[in-house]
Amino acid sequence: MSRIAYVNGRYLPFRQAMVHIEDRGYQFSDGVYEVCLVQDGHLVDERLHMARLTRSLRELQIRWPVTPSALAVIMREVVARERLRDGVIYVQITRGVATRNHPFPPASVKPALVVNARPHDLAAGDRAAAEGIAVVTMPDIRWQRVDIKTVSLVANVLAKEAAHQAGADEAWLVDRDGYITEGSSTNAWIVTPDGVLLTRRVGDGILRGVTREVLVGILRRDGIRFEERSFTVAEALEAREAFITSAGNLVMPVVRIDGRPVANGHPGQLSLMLRGLFLDGAEHSSLRFSPGSPNMSD
Ligand code: PDD
Repeated sequence: MSRIAYVNGRYLPFRQAMVHIEDRGYQFSDGVYEVCLVQDGHLVDERLHMARLTRSLRELQIRWPVTPSALAVIMREVVARERLRDGVIYVQITRGVATRNHPFPPASVKPALVVNARPHDLAAGDRAAAEGIAVVTMPDIRWQRVDIKTVSLVANVLAKEAAHQAGADEAWLVDRDGYITEGSSTNAWIVTPDGVLLTRRVGDGILRGVTREVLVGILRRDGIRFEERSFTVAEALEAREAFITSAGNLVMPVVRIDGRPVANGHPGQLSLMLRGLFLDGAEHSSLRFSPGSPNMSD
């Protein structure tokens, strides 16, 4: 099967899928993105991903390159042409191609759109979850607008690489007051010794994770005790359970923090139960796009 990608209006063979050297995403990280899980050919939580994309574009004052409904059709077309069953789809919108100059380019410059998809082994994720992953903590050196899903990810890249070099899977970023914000590409959660789930509030130095949001809905629905508040590295080290959430990881248990086992060093029961509940709580798109109103709220 030959791979394809959508680039600015065309479906191209993967090897020919190129953007211009003066794309502002390339030169200034002047763009936004989304990563959406595909399960059994269906986009998972598409509505929430599109709502977040809408917000990211608005915050950076980038126009839609195509209408939201056209993007929905393109995403389905990429999934179909890739014959993708389980995977992730990547959508990137930048401010477009223009002579390198910091101010916004003239209004005649069209924003650029790239969409591609790749397989993602959900069963491998389940096997990893049965073992749990390790995280290490490090200072959060990112810019202040981490609520926007921009492609400006160099601080996240450095953190993830440092985690890998330390033999861990993810970096948990710590603010100046010693509180964990989130992972380099995931949201962070713990369960306190008395059984309360904690995750940091949105609007307080984290990305509003779609997986986090869907999980919060499940917790509310099922009456599982949780609080949206910051927690320190010390609290994380005392936790009964810990896990991360993201589109690709779903709910992934954390069993080591800074080389120290979380509780008995095995994935926690609640974490595994929530992993099981997640895909039931998530919304699976129809294969054909029918225009509806994506939730554009904050
Ligand atoms: N990362 N926090 C950060 C900093 C992220 O980059 C992500 C997503 C999340 C989780 O968001 P969601 O549940 O919507 O995936 C939290 C994506 C997957 C990435 O950069 O690959």
